[in-house]
Amino acid sequence: MYAYAQTRDWEGYFAAAAGRPPRDTLLEALARFEREGVPAPEGVPPLAVDLGCGEGRDTAELLRRGWRVVAIDGHEEAFRRLRARDDIEHWDRLEMRLSAFEECQIPACQLLNASYSLPFCEPERFMDLWKVLTLAIVPGGRFAGQLFGDRDSWAKYPDRSHQTRDEAEALLKAFEVEKFEEEERNGSDCAGKGKHWHVFHIIARKV
Ligand SMILES: C[S@@+](CC[C@H](N)C(=O)[O-])C[C@H]1O[C@@H](n2cnc3c(N)ncnc32)[C@H](O)[C@@H]1O
Repeated sequence: MYAYAQTRDWEGYFAAAAGRPPRDTLLEALARFEREGVPAPEGVPPLAVDLGCGEGRDTAELLRRGWRVVAIDGHEEAFRRLRARDDIEHWDRLEMRLSAFEECQIPACQLLNASYSLPFCEPERFMDLWKVLTLAIVPGGRFAGQLFGDRDSWAKYPDRSHQTRDEAEALLKAFEVEKFEEEERNGSDCAGKGKHWHVFHIIARKV
């Protein structure tokens, strides 16, 4: 298990996430592909990378919609839970990769889905990861996911990657931004502990 995996109660997170529906950013990106077509070779199912897949809420939906999926996560428990799901269609289209973000390989893909996962990349490795994932998305492909803002409660932790709004927008230079929704509210984390959320919900099409 990677060192990062010991810095949070990920098992508690996976238990809390069990049975939750796919993320809205993923559903909206898929709806856009359905309207406009996917930039993939004819007859080959398109490929999505689900970066920080967790227990698989988005991976399951992608497979159900006919995508191939490379699901990447650094925590073994994520894949134990993913394997135990009873709603996975087409296991043959799923590749599970146990890897830290800081050292993962990302294949060329039509969709890079990173739901609530990128803020957990080490800050000194974040720009490298962002460059690699941006390059991996084929022209006409999409990024869907979240970045966390500088006013989020967790921005104070030194091992987290948070961005100001300007920084988040600057990251999207290689994209046509289709959704950039800033959410800021007081709420709680998955363990019920009070937390100020400052999140950017993003869907962007690679130019
Ligand atoms: C908040 S969860 C999100 C899971 C899922 N995408 C969702 O939307 O529910 C973040 C996920 O990223 C993984 N993760 C966090 N930091 C990581 C790192 N540095 N390398 C690899 N995986 C990491 C965790 O194991 C966890 O599954």
